[in-house]
Amino acid sequence: MRKTPFKIPSKALFLAPMQDVTDLRFMQAVNAISSPDFYCAEYFRIHESFELDRRTMEAVNSQVLSAPVVAQFIGGDESDIAKAALELSKRAPRLLYLDLNIGCPVAKIYRKNAGGGLLRFPEKIKCIVRVLRDNWEGVLSVKMRAGFAEFSEFEHLFESVMETPPDYITIHARTVAQLYRGKPDYSIIKRGVELSGGVPVVANGDISSARKAVEVFNETGCAGVMIGRPAVRNPWIFRQIREFLNGEEVFNPLLSDVRAYVQNLADNIICGGGKILHADSRLKKYLNFVALGVDPEGKFLREMRLARGMDSLLRVCDKHLLDNGNAEKKFSLDAYEGICARPNCEL
Ligand SMILES: Cc1cc2nc3c(=O)[nH]c(=O)nc-3n(C[C@H](O)[C@H](O)[C@H](O)COP(=O)(O)O)c2cc1C
Repeated sequence: MRKTPFKIPSKALFLAPMQDVTDLRFMQAVNAISSPDFYCAEYFRIHESFELDRRTMEAVNSQVLSAPVVAQFIGGDESDIAKAALELSKRAPRLLYLDLNIGCPVAKIYRKNAGGGLLRFPEKIKCIVRVLRDNWEGVLSVKMRAGFAEFSEFEHLFESVMETPPDYITIHARTVAQLYRGKPDYSIIKRGVELSGGVPVVANGDISSARKAVEVFNETGCAGVMIGRPAVRNPWIFRQIREFLNGEEVFNPLLSDVRAYVQNLADNIICGGGKILHADSRLKKYLNFVALGVDPEGKFLREMRLARGMDSLLRVCDKHLLDNGNAEKKFSLDAYEGICARPNCEL
C-alpha cells in the first residue's frame, strides 16, 4: 500500500509539535532564523465527530517553509483514525508526513485513552499503527513516551509499536506520569535504537543546547533529535547544532537579535488576525520561554508578565533587549536556572 520511500537525513533535526505554539506563524518565525529538517504541526484531535482544524490544515498545507511539515493525529479509535487519514490525504494532497501521538500526558486526553493513555493498551497501539499503515500512503511515524507509569514498560510498548514498523519513531524519554518535569532517561533511547532493527529513532526531551544534542547523538546512537521548548526560547538552536557537529564556532545571538525575533513573532501574530484582541497574551506564551535566556534574575520575565496590551509589552521588550547597552549583550545559550517559564502549568 505504501508508496513513499523514506530516508531520514543524517543527524536529522525536528521542531517538536506543540499545541497552541507550533502554528504556521511561529514556524515562519523559526524558519527566518534557522530551519530544522522537519517542522511538526500541532495535533489533529480525532474522535467520532472529528473535524480537521482549519488553522492546523493551513500549517500542513503550507509551502512557505524551507523544510517539510509533519501532521499529527491524537485519538483512540482505529476506525475514526482510518477515516481521518483518508480525509487528510484528500485535503492535503502534497502532505507526506503523518505522526501518531501516543505520549500526551494531559489528563483530559489520556483519560479518554488517547495520546499517552494508549500506553496502557499495547494491543490498541498495534491496531492503530496497522490501520494507519493501511490508510496513509506517505511516511508514517509514531511519537511515544518511555512508558505510562514506569520506564520498565518501555520494551514491551516499543515492540507493540514495531509490530507494523513505522518509518521512524520519536521517543520522549519520560513517562506520562512524569509530565514535563522529571528527568529524561536517555538510556531508554539507546535501548530503542538497539531494538529498532534499523528503523530510525529520534530522541526528544530537554535537548536544550547544541552541546546537549551532540551528547545525546553520541550517547544513544539516535538518528535525529527533536526539540520543543528550547527552540521557542532559542530558535537559533538548529543552526547551532549543525555548527557544533561541523566543529565550527557556534553562533551566539545578541539580545538585539532576540528583539528582532520577538518582533517577527509579534508581526506574525497580528497578521494571523482572529485572536488579535489577545495578541499580547499570545506573544507572552512565547516570551515565557524566551525570558529564560535574557537575565538570570528573571526581571524581564516578571515585567513582561505585568504588561497590558501589545504596545506596552513591546516597550518592556525594548527596555530589556535593546536599551542601556542591552542590545550588545549575549543571549544565554542555556536557560538560566531557578526561573520558571510557566509556573501555573503542568509544563
Ligand atoms: C506547550 C506544549 C504543547 C505540546 N503539544 C504537543 C503536541 O501537540 N503533540 C505532541 O506530540 N507533543 C506535544 N508536546 C510535547 C513536545 O512535543 C515535546 O515532546 C516535549 O515538550 C519535550 O520536548 P522538549 O523538552 O524539547 O520541550 C507539547 C509540549 C508543550 C510544552
